[in-house]
Amino acid sequence: MRFKLLIPFSVLSLAAMVVLTATGCSDQGLTTKKSALSALPKAEGGGAPSLEIGSDSVFYPNNMPSALKGRQVYTANCASCHGTYLTAQERLDLSKEASLPADQQAVRKGLEKEGRLPEIKSLNGPDFNDRDWRFRRTPGQLFQLIAYGSMPDQLGIADTKMILHPGPVLGPDKKPVKDANGKVQYKAGLGWMDSIQIQRGGLEFVSGDSVPVWDSIYYAWSRSIAVKSVSNFGDVWKIYGENCSVCHGDIAKGNGPISKQLNPLPFNFQNRKALAETTDAFLFWRISEGGQFRRIPQPVKDTMTSQALSLYVHQWSAMPSWRGLLTEEQRWMLVDGVRSKTYEHE
Ligand code: HEC
Ligand code: HEC
Repeated sequence: MRFKLLIPFSVLSLAAMVVLTATGCSDQGLTTKKSALSALPKAEGGGAPSLEIGSDSVFYPNNMPSALKGRQVYTANCASCHGTYLTAQERLDLSKEASLPADQQAVRKGLEKEGRLPEIKSLNGPDFNDRDWRFRRTPGQLFQLIAYGSMPDQLGIADTKMILHPGPVLGPDKKPVKDANGKVQYKAGLGWMDSIQIQRGGLEFVSGDSVPVWDSIYYAWSRSIAVKSVSNFGDVWKIYGENCSVCHGDIAKGNGPISKQLNPLPFNFQNRKALAETTDAFLFWRISEGGQFRRIPQPVKDTMTSQALSLYVHQWSAMPSWRGLLTEEQRWMLVDGVRSKTYEHE
């Protein structure tokens, strides 16, 4: 009885799928280019292995960027304007502060005195503890800003205004110019690629090394999850294990037990370069909508480069929509979770 009912239903839904696929692609301005599709590296998985955007200007490092190493780079170069941020452990301690014994409160006072509490409300750029600042940014875009001093504000818009960022002014000897008090001079629109301080025995200015720039960016990036990370990454991987690993694999490489039966393949979240060129806005939307969306909403489109959009090969995929199944918070946790595979962090 059940069996009989099931067959017509699945045939019907299959037919519906085919119709939707046909109309879906034409009215969305999304391309279904077979040639583009076959050119995509299979191992990367997924229909939309994002984008070869800016592959020339974005030197993606061979090694995994490290927010841990970035902390030191940040402290030496960026904290003078952006303020110092606490580690997750320090923050957790502070949030428990009310119940702490008196001598623990002295720890906080000490941090404050050393200027190690975040100077959040300064006018010197965003509060990195707040995730809103990076919602529409990709790590690759931020690399462009910090390494070279400017980036387009909105990815999807052609004539968008450029955001400028200050970098060290270099003298004729290619060394940073310092004022009478020995402080480095900055100018908006200059990048850090030609001079960033790293720890090598002592602090030393290095030139043309993208690694410390990436590390410092991922450090700033990671601040917005540091609040929760110590307790929450465990929860993230529990949700991931229950819902995602069957397709995306235990270590998020896109090779879960049923992945081989899927076409397109599940996305490989260890594809660091692709994720460095993807916004949180996009990831959150993809996790929420799954692979059966009809169109990319404008606010999400605005966070993609025009090149990314034209490369976007829209396919109906097995990726389920998680909107009704996981809470908004859980979907955000998963954004951080899959991203956390692409850089070292606390
Ligand atoms: C039934 C298999 C399946 C399950 C379960 C699944 N996915 Fe997917 N997912 C896919 C496939 C296939 C793709 C690649 C095609 C596409 O982009 O739709 C994909 C793509 C994605 C993408 C898009 C990446 C990009 O940059 O284009 C994200 C993000 C994602 N999945 C997250 C998740 C998360 C988080 C979970 C668990 C809550 C999950 N997926 C569960 C099959 C699955
Ligand atoms: C001389 C002060 C100064 C220094 C030093 C400095 N910044 Fe900034 N930073 C700013 C200001 C001002 C802004 C805001 C720019 C704007 O919004 O136009 C900013 C913005 C940013 C942003 C956010 C960009 C955005 O709009 O999303 C990031 C990320 C950032 N800085 C990272 C760094 C890193 C990493 C370093 C060290 C390598 C650094 N900054 C050093 C002043 C500074």
